[in-house]
Amino acid sequence: MKTYPLYVKGLDEHLSGGIPQHHTIILSGTPGTYKSTLAYNILLHNANTLGIHGMYVSLEQSKENLEYHLTNMGFKEPTQGGVDIMDMGKLRKLKGQFQERKREEGTLSEDISLKYSLANLKNMISNRIEKNNIELMAIDSLELMELAFKMNEPREDLFYFFNWLKDLNITTMIIAEALKDTYARHDLGFLADGIIQLRMDRLDDMSTRRFISVVKMRGVNHSTDYFVFSFKDGFFDAARAII
Ligand SMILES: Nc1ncnc2c1ncn2[C@@H]1O[C@H](COP(=O)(O)OP(=O)(O)OP(=O)(O)O)[C@@H](O)[C@H]1O
Ligand SMILES: [Mg+2]
Repeated sequence: MKTYPLYVKGLDEHLSGGIPQHHTIILSGTPGTYKSTLAYNILLHNANTLGIHGMYVSLEQSKENLEYHLTNMGFKEPTQGGVDIMDMGKLRKLKGQFQERKREEGTLSEDISLKYSLANLKNMISNRIEKNNIELMAIDSLELMELAFKMNEPREDLFYFFNWLKDLNITTMIIAEALKDTYARHDLGFLADGIIQLRMDRLDDMSTRRFISVVKMRGVNHSTDYFVFSFKDGFFDAARAII
């Protein structure tokens, strides 16, 4: 079975080659734990090494903001394959401006929703996948999806969205804000084929460390241990914690 490495030194060795093809996994973590950076790292290095075409669906940060962060982290453009950044934040903003103008003109019809529908998002994603031959995708983030798209029943709508993702026959990483004792809202962790958890812990009064753990990965014999997670010179590293 084809797998996509995380390109995290010290962790891929414990993951039998990486994320199995066609899995839908959750990258869960508290704020500032490298969720977005890790997702991009996986897309970029799979493009560079295997010529994979990947896509990063950003609902959170604008493309400019994300690119600024990634350049600052030392990432370069892919040398083969590609990483297509789909800036949904910008689309949302443009749509907001359009609606504001219509409202000022008094021509905003009742049926134009302030939010995109999930059907819109699905259409946009599947069109891009087909157009750019995408096989690996990151969605940043689940919470923003819930906030930005019109959902009558968020739990059910996200459940169906998840199943729709699985039927796309590509490999997807969904970024989720970790909540206490759960990996993603609405218990979506149970639906995922895999969960990678990122967290930041206080070691003592003065210092903190980031940690990474592969909580679950269906079909893979992996370690569930927490590794100290760090980023240096453009590469991620996971090392066993010394207790
Ligand atoms: N050049 C750098 N090298 C290493 N770490 C950096 C560098 N620049 C910023 N950082 C760290 O990266 C963190 C942000 O990483 P990232 O955006 O991937 O986290 P995140 O988990 O997605 O955050 P959020 O909760 O905001 O979505 C910053 O909070 C900062 O600590
Ligand atoms: Mg982020």
